[in-house]
Amino acid sequence: MIDSETFRSVLGRFASGVTIVTARDDAGEDHGMTVSAFCSLSLQPPLVLLCVDHEASMHDLLLKHPRFGISILSSSQEAYSRRFAADESNRFDGIAYVRGDSGVVLLEEALAHLECAVREHHDAGDHTLFIAEVERAEARQGRPLLYYRGGYAQLER
Ligand SMILES: Cc1cc2nc3c(=O)[nH]c(=O)nc-3n(C[C@H](O)[C@H](O)[C@H](O)COP(=O)(O)O)c2cc1C
Repeated sequence: MIDSETFRSVLGRFASGVTIVTARDDAGEDHGMTVSAFCSLSLQPPLVLLCVDHEASMHDLLLKHPRFGISILSSSQEAYSRRFAADESNRFDGIAYVRGDSGVVLLEEALAHLECAVREHHDAGDHTLFIAEVERAEARQGRPLLYYRGGYAQLER
């Protein structure tokens, strides 16, 4: 069987963008985490998928509160990627954001915003695969933040 180090090293060759996934709990408190395991799944209906670690604090929230937001980070937002993956007491402190129609946080200056509703979820190893319908989406001009081989990168073109 392939070891974790090889798996990481090989899969790290697949460059991705970086997103911040956001949702609200019963008390109306905001939660957010960095997610790069995100991609487009279907056009009709418009579906995306994301993979969330069973251990992530938002995991159960996404099962319980199916509406969530996705902010696709721009090249100037590396600090947000780090912050939403770090042990910070309030990840939203001092951050500029707007609220979507469903009330979820969407980060300002992000390259794109999506508002989604979970349609299916499947346990897969140590993660859960969430399939969600995109209910609203908007994009702005800019350059993406990239993640490649465990580090951040910029698009050169
Ligand atoms: C660039 C980057 C991409 C990440 N992608 C994912 C991901 O796709 N799924 C996931 O569950 N965790 C991912 N993580 C890790 C989580 O963001 C991190 O474990 C976070 O702290 C989890 O939230 P929690 O501390 O509130 O549990 C990623 C982290 C980074 C820095």
